[in-house]
Amino acid sequence: MIENLTPPATPDVLKQARVDFPILSRTVNGKPLIYLDNAASTQKPQSVIDAVSRYYSHENANIHRGVHLLSTEATAAYESARQKLARYLNASDESEIIFTRGATESINLVAHSFLEPIINAGEEILISHMEHHANIVPWQLLAKRTGARLRVAPIDDHGNLELDTCLSMIGPKTKLVGIVHVSNSIGTVNPIESIVTAARERGIATLIDCAQSIQHMPLDVQSMGCDFVVFSGHKMFAPTGIGGLYGRKSLLGKMRPYQGGGDMISRVSFDGTTFKEPPSRFEAGTPHIAGAIGLGFALDYIESIGRETIHNYESQLIEYAVGRLKNCQGVEIIGNPEHRSGAISFTMENAHPHDIGTILDTEGVAIRTGHHCCEPLMTRFGISATARASIAFYNNSDDIDVLVDSLTKVRTLFG
Ligand code: ALA
Repeated sequence: MIENLTPPATPDVLKQARVDFPILSRTVNGKPLIYLDNAASTQKPQSVIDAVSRYYSHENANIHRGVHLLSTEATAAYESARQKLARYLNASDESEIIFTRGATESINLVAHSFLEPIINAGEEILISHMEHHANIVPWQLLAKRTGARLRVAPIDDHGNLELDTCLSMIGPKTKLVGIVHVSNSIGTVNPIESIVTAARERGIATLIDCAQSIQHMPLDVQSMGCDFVVFSGHKMFAPTGIGGLYGRKSLLGKMRPYQGGGDMISRVSFDGTTFKEPPSRFEAGTPHIAGAIGLGFALDYIESIGRETIHNYESQLIEYAVGRLKNCQGVEIIGNPEHRSGAISFTMENAHPHDIGTILDTEGVAIRTGHHCCEPLMTRFGISATARASIAFYNNSDDIDVLVDSLTKVRTLFG
């Protein structure tokens, strides 16, 4: 990972972006808010807030069920969000996009509807040591139900995936490889292309957790070649409670439903039920209509800046942040991955991460502290928690400077 002490220039389009997020102009504890907890949840631009408000004040009705105008408009707005997501991810068909509550639900859906019916006792699911609990626990539960085995590809002391070992663990017993694209804790960008290629050569399914990459870099599911991609809306400037699953059409069509209920059926009688084709088959009940509409507007917003612009700028900003933190006395960065995006975890001598977070809050700086839903990763580094700063495109080098100045205060207080 390159480190750089020259502050990156903020492109004009991103200077405007900061203004578009109303919350960024508030104060916290009497200080301007410096929001560096974007890996936990991003802020929302006015256009997303307005879209959700407009839906409730102008179009609110249930979708796919009414012949009246409001229902027709709500349905069109909801389905338009699906089309935008399909374009955004370069899915070959919009039916490959399923709305869920978020990445966690998407992984549970794949575990239940795709893997459980085809995995046998003794067969394997391969994940990595840096997974979020959401990409561990659903597979553990499935392994317990089926007698399958969860295998874990190791990482090195810098927080890089040990790629050769990972590839050597993909074998005749592997049924699914599920790997995080970008680590939410330490920011490692994984070489998913090599992993997906190796798995596909053996006819093994792949799931990529893109919860921490989809907002930072361009993604194209067709060139990635994977079978499933999961993500959460609230980490990409959209409302909470909405997210998605991309699934390869040929697989989705063969999968059993995840939940039963309204809108996912073709015919119901007391003798039995037949189901709609995807995506409806996997969207039982009234979905988070406002959330999906908001997500569509979040995609419009990201596209209006440009994903390459975001990626290039954020790469420079994270290098700057790494450089500044490395030079900050008393701070130890956890993980030094070859490729990093979004997040930096660190500890400080004598100060517990929760103390760091509390003192930073008095300075208006919001970071996350704790295990970041990655307890096995923390154990790998011999720690129980870190402080984590995570960026979005609306952050700038001044934010990083305030972070570093505030950490100097932490050092003064904790010696
Ligand atoms: N997964 C989110 C995080 O990393 C909540 O903070």
